[in-house]
Amino acid sequence: MGHYNFDRVINRENTSCVKYDLRQSIFGNSKVLPMWVADMDISTPDFILDALAERIKHPMLGYTIRDKAFNESIVWWNAKRHSWDIKPEYISICAGVVSGLNHAIQAFTNPGDKIIIQPPVYHPFFSTIYNNNRIILPNPLIGLDMKYTMDFEHLEKIASQGAKMIIISNPHNPVGRVWNRDELVRLGEICCKHNILIVSDEIHSDLIIKPNLHIPFASLSEQFLMNSVTFASTSKTFNLAGLFTGHAIIANKQLLKKYNHALEITGAGTGNIFGFESVKAAYSPKGEIWLDEVLEYIKGNTLLVEAYLKDKLPKINLAELQGTYLLWLDFRSFGLDDEKINDLLINKAEVGLNKGSIFGELGIGFQRMNVACPRSQVEEALERIHNVFKNL
Ligand SMILES: Cc1ncc(COP(=O)(O)O)c(C=O)c1O
Repeated sequence: MGHYNFDRVINRENTSCVKYDLRQSIFGNSKVLPMWVADMDISTPDFILDALAERIKHPMLGYTIRDKAFNESIVWWNAKRHSWDIKPEYISICAGVVSGLNHAIQAFTNPGDKIIIQPPVYHPFFSTIYNNNRIILPNPLIGLDMKYTMDFEHLEKIASQGAKMIIISNPHNPVGRVWNRDELVRLGEICCKHNILIVSDEIHSDLIIKPNLHIPFASLSEQFLMNSVTFASTSKTFNLAGLFTGHAIIANKQLLKKYNHALEITGAGTGNIFGFESVKAAYSPKGEIWLDEVLEYIKGNTLLVEAYLKDKLPKINLAELQGTYLLWLDFRSFGLDDEKINDLLINKAEVGLNKGSIFGELGIGFQRMNVACPRSQVEEALERIHNVFKNL
């Protein structure tokens, strides 16, 4: 351990990166310390950068196929990291998981159909549904003392209202839950009973804080495998979001055919050279070593936030981080309205978090903080927040 240096601060300004270069337009303040959008302020590992550099030595960048090695690297990774044996022929592609979700909605539902989501949840789940003229059926999570669970009684009730699909975040962004076997089985049984297709967004599946364990939904039974679509990606795990290459795992041949047809309609089924190269380099023994180290580091950042809040800002409550690198913070004890909290964070503390309200009404009063960054940045953010909130 300790082979990589995650403490290194790298200036990302003026690289057209969303996290830094959109601060003025998003926050109205270009100086906020950015702890928002879900990419890392930690360098993509050297062995992936080397693979990209190697490819660019060849001067031809024409149309490129998704080769056997690409699919095999995904098969290998799932077996190694998630004890899930999939076949290469299950694999398809997406230009980012959000693009994949849009294509899944178009492939498997019709305008006017109802789709269940579990707020507070990753905000594009809402927009992909309404942009495609489908109807959102919320099955809100139950949050008690910052511990979140699924509401199965409610799910059972709305499942019979004719929903065609459910989109789950496994693990869950923004509350940081890694769903356990019992929860996934119960959800799967309810959905299968009512013929609801399960779309499991597993983009955060490699970002698991020990001793939690990611369980791919589709790995739980043959019935779940045949009634589900799984999306995953190297983008969060290895900080590759700018390459826009994710993948879908679809064992049911009819579903796979429909999904691929939806990709064909929009011309989104090909992918890009550097995306392919990066996946092959990432899903490798070197990728495992780097990932285990970065996860330890992220866990360290999380423990730091937890200890700091307990000691200095006990009014801010933190949900236990089981997976993702996104902390879910409850500011409601200050008794301030949401706008005021946002204003204090952005304009006084000058820290750029994601306001909880973007994840749905249940997120009002909460903030999401990205801790996949050098520890000094986490410390700086905590101090800035402390200076403003300590006497409130
Ligand atoms: C649950 C979830 N799905 C999808 C995405 C975005 O994926 P992509 O950039 O591959 O479209 C994110 C990014 O934060 C996410 O948290």
